[in-house]
Amino acid sequence: MITIKNERQIVKMREACAAAATVLQETKALVRPGISTQDLEEVALAAMKRLGATSACFGYQLANRRYPAHTCISVNEEVVHGIPSIRRILRDGDVVAVDIVVNHDGYIGDNAATVPVGAISPTLQKLLQVTEEALRIGISKAQVGNRIGDISHAIQTHVESNGFSVVRDMVGHGVGLSMHEEPQIPNFGRKGTLEKIRAGMTLAIEPMVNLGAYRTKTLSDGWTVVTSDGSPSAHFEHTVLTTDKGPEVLTIPRPVIGHVHSLPAA
Ligand code: MF3
Ligand code: CO
Repeated sequence: MITIKNERQIVKMREACAAAATVLQETKALVRPGISTQDLEEVALAAMKRLGATSACFGYQLANRRYPAHTCISVNEEVVHGIPSIRRILRDGDVVAVDIVVNHDGYIGDNAATVPVGAISPTLQKLLQVTEEALRIGISKAQVGNRIGDISHAIQTHVESNGFSVVRDMVGHGVGLSMHEEPQIPNFGRKGTLEKIRAGMTLAIEPMVNLGAYRTKTLSDGWTVVTSDGSPSAHFEHTVLTTDKGPEVLTIPRPVIGHVHSLPAA
């Protein structure tokens, strides 16, 4: 069942998503050649603590495994769920996807972005641009009265018309009181299919786009998803609230109310 968030829950989702967006912004700002993906993990974790949030990824259980880190940092051919490591050093020309999911007072905010490390090739620039555009276009279809498949179709069409492919093995999702709620939001599909969109849904829309073929596989660490052909991949994600006035992106950086740690002296 798809849960519709009430006014009080929407206020809480705004806070959680503002926190997730602020953490993502601060983590992205650190990206440059020579740092490790563990450095990104540490900056993100410090930002979460400052904002009164915790990681929804840490300890997340899938089958018999628990995710061992607080962020997912995926470099080049890694699609999602890359585990931060002191041994993974970012190099000029890489692309790095930073995926931040926080729990703030019991509510979950989920967002991701892929950023260049130093100077990247024109092809990689286009991969990032098209994936971010696909997210924007997908969000624009999150209208009351549309169906989830309208989002899926718009994303797939934009990606494939630019010569890239959409990952099939992972999908976007409802989000709120847990990280993965109904409905699933595939990045491929047909207009007019899947669930009808109503006001008050909170949806994590997240195109994962490969430069080469869409197939993926999971590495022996049990988490890191990579492209099967080794081609680079990009990932952008926002949490969106559906309203009668249209979609509202919740994962925008702004002050998190209720957790102000430094007030000016009276
Ligand atoms: N944004 C990712 C998702 O929706 C976060 C996964 S956290 C992990 O699947 F623990 F599974 F890695
Ligand atoms: Co997600």
